[in-house]
Amino acid sequence: MTIDVGRVRADTPGCEHVVHFNNAGSSLPPRQVTDAVVDHLRLEERTGGYEAAAAALDRSERAYDALAALVGADRDEIALVENATRAWDMAFYSLSWKPGDRILTSRAEYASNAIAFLQTARRHGVHVDVVPDDETGALSVDALRDMIDERVKLIAVTHVPTQGGLVNPAAGIGAVAREAGVTYLLDACQSIGQMRVDVREIGCDLLSATGRKFLRGPRGTGFLYCSRRVLDRLEPPFLDLHAATWTSADSYEVRGDARRFENWEGYVAGKIGLGVAADYALGLGIDAVEERVTGLAEALRGRLAALPGVTVHDRGARRCGIVTFTVDGHDSRDVAARLSAAKINLSVSAASSARWDFEARGLPSLVRSSVHYYNTEDELDRLCEALPGPVTTGA
Ligand SMILES: Cc1ncc(COP(=O)(O)O)c(C=O)c1O
Repeated sequence: MTIDVGRVRADTPGCEHVVHFNNAGSSLPPRQVTDAVVDHLRLEERTGGYEAAAAALDRSERAYDALAALVGADRDEIALVENATRAWDMAFYSLSWKPGDRILTSRAEYASNAIAFLQTARRHGVHVDVVPDDETGALSVDALRDMIDERVKLIAVTHVPTQGGLVNPAAGIGAVAREAGVTYLLDACQSIGQMRVDVREIGCDLLSATGRKFLRGPRGTGFLYCSRRVLDRLEPPFLDLHAATWTSADSYEVRGDARRFENWEGYVAGKIGLGVAADYALGLGIDAVEERVTGLAEALRGRLAALPGVTVHDRGARRCGIVTFTVDGHDSRDVAARLSAAKINLSVSAASSARWDFEARGLPSLVRSSVHYYNTEDELDRLCEALPGPVTTGA
């Protein structure tokens, strides 16, 4: 299967208005997703929120099946939440800690995850150990294996970081976690929707993801995969009458499926839209998606690297649709503003989003251009043409 670019662009009204290279921020949604969300909001308008939810139950339930199919899980292993951070937090803060426990993580880790590690270290005397990179810049699976001991309680790694094209070796990490019997939490926020992410192949126990990025779902949506292997051991940090049942005056029982990580009130239209987005990705074929996204990203890296004064910063033996670069003599924010004025959307990655990585590599802020399968070679050219030339100093 290959992507029919004309068809996916016709499905994407935004393509007529902007050149969108901010898919790692929030993709342009296909009209099928927007229609599903708006249709449900209209139903709420006409009939009332609870009544609309009841009438559309099969559509919101479909989201569990579609997401389970997307990640190779069962539907009762999926929880729908507001975003990737909440999915990750619900998993992470379900673990219980004692002083001396260790968390092994990656240098490329996202700020919110690192902050949660640091808070847990402060509260419970837990050690946070960053696994060194290999020579390509990815987490070293060999180093990870060497760092395992009986105090390691969690391996928590970001699959694709916010700040570059790197793809961490999720399945290699999973093999180490399985050998050691250590819980493995994978942040798949930036990988879901742009590449195959199969929880059984990867061997993770927990996986967090968002709707709006490469999956092209609505904003304010995300999901958590929780394997049945670990479910019974994890009591969420917050419980309500959806996550648990009040069984007697002084007792409660936590749900037996992954919905223990949800809460009762939710964004029903968003859940429906998220399911439609997952079905849209499944319909295209995730391998075809990955092939086109990685092909476009490599083409962009090649074009950028050929421009004077432009440096591409992506690392890793395997790379994805996120392309980061700098232009000599220009602040990345100014570059992004200049492109925005030309109706080319991209974003900037700053140290505050991934401090361990930026500091270790001595990086300034980076221009982040993230491609999707609906982008074209012509759009890559437009991006390159709109860049400022290098500022040279000299006599
Ligand atoms: C690697 C990574 N993890 C987590 C998140 C947080 O996702 P959300 O904003 O959906 O909570 C992001 C957001 O950019 C991210 O890049």
